[in-house]
Amino acid sequence: MDSILVKGNGPLNGVIPIAGAKNACLTLMPATLLSEEPLTLTNAPRLSDIATMTQLLQSLGAEVASMQNGLVLAMSSHKVYNHTADYEIVRKFRASILVLGPLLARDGHAIVSLPGGCAIGARPVDLHLKAFEAMGAELELRDGYVHAKAPGGRLRGAIIEFPFVSVGATENALLAATLAKGTTVIKNAAREPEIVDLAVCLRRMGAQIDGEGTSTITIQGVDRLGGATHPVVTDRIELGTYMLLPAICGGEVECLGGKMSLVGAFAEKLDAAGVSVVETERGLKVTRKNGRVNAVDVVTEPFPGFPTDLQAQMMALLCTADGTSVLEEKIFENRFMHAPELVRMGAKIDVHGGHATVTGVEKLRGARVMATDLRASVSLILAGLAAEGETVVSRVYHLDRGYERVEEKLRGVGAQIERISA
Ligand code: EPU
Repeated sequence: MDSILVKGNGPLNGVIPIAGAKNACLTLMPATLLSEEPLTLTNAPRLSDIATMTQLLQSLGAEVASMQNGLVLAMSSHKVYNHTADYEIVRKFRASILVLGPLLARDGHAIVSLPGGCAIGARPVDLHLKAFEAMGAELELRDGYVHAKAPGGRLRGAIIEFPFVSVGATENALLAATLAKGTTVIKNAAREPEIVDLAVCLRRMGAQIDGEGTSTITIQGVDRLGGATHPVVTDRIELGTYMLLPAICGGEVECLGGKMSLVGAFAEKLDAAGVSVVETERGLKVTRKNGRVNAVDVVTEPFPGFPTDLQAQMMALLCTADGTSVLEEKIFENRFMHAPELVRMGAKIDVHGGHATVTGVEKLRGARVMATDLRASVSLILAGLAAEGETVVSRVYHLDRGYERVEEKLRGVGAQIERISA
């Protein structure tokens, strides 16, 4: 397994291009199953999770061609000959559950392996299943698989009210409702930019959708969807991660393609910590206002709140802030696994339930650390860039799921980073 070697080396300066969003692309790709006509995604990120979704769609009968060095994904689901999403692929990533809605909506039946728990929490899919039941689907759980059928071969419109916000369940219900008979209203819907992007793409394919980006989405089902070409929205988590570089190391970094509307709550916290974020014509320019940043408290929430996917990276910044910060994780029950690794680098962190108290130290020290999940791995790289000496992050396969060409992008702003192949 590869490792990443990072050396702390002072201020970072330059520009970093931000890719299309992993989590948008992973929900846009299954939309191809809703139509017999081609769906082409541009600005796709080059990531291992996208390759796994490609493999899953191909196993169902879709054609997926990666073009322009992976930036364009040309998909066509003229035929869907297999309606079973096999455990061997599903176990690799949880987004695979997003093929269930489209398969059910298109052909009225599907069998999808239940994704397991994962390092950051149990992550059940009960809300997805309840949404399909509300739309008339009959579900049975057998041998680790969800067997789903729509009586008469077609889902029907329904009022779906989620007890709490779920990004994935909102996406699955939205995908399925486009071809259901009648009107579907999703209440307490997630408002993430990735949901808005999905609705825009589905509308390009001919779907009738209103209210995306608010808590109530209304979908008028249609008989068929056509083809479309759609650019994937900018990855706000990759954006936020790289915005932290000058905050942690000093210098000035401009993130190309970045927009304030994607990272509002996060930029507000940076501002309070003493980091300036300015929107330019081509992105977001970030620099530290003074020397050391100030401690700030952070609570993770669904969009437009502070994203859970930036909590680990923000913790890396706060490890060297002036004062004590409290981070509260409200989305996942076990998302502080980076804390003990940061402690190995000299951070002072006390985790108690869903809270982590971080008392800033002057300087972190390089150490051998282990990546436990995607966002944790990049937080250790950020910490390593600010530390004295060398940091070796092992188990970096997590990183390749969500950050494309990470070494190249970081070296472009002057970071000392290299991959050690096993
Ligand atoms: N939940 C349930 N039942 C469900 C669905 C969710 O209890 O049926 C719970 C989850 O266990 C969690 C909370 O609800 O505690 C919110 O989960 P949500 O469904 O919103 O998350 P998700 O759709 O599984 C997506 C992203 C995650 C991101 C979360 C929250 C994708 C592929 N994944 O997951 O991204 O953290 O939304 O914003 O879109 C990452 O990129 O590192 C990542 C983990």
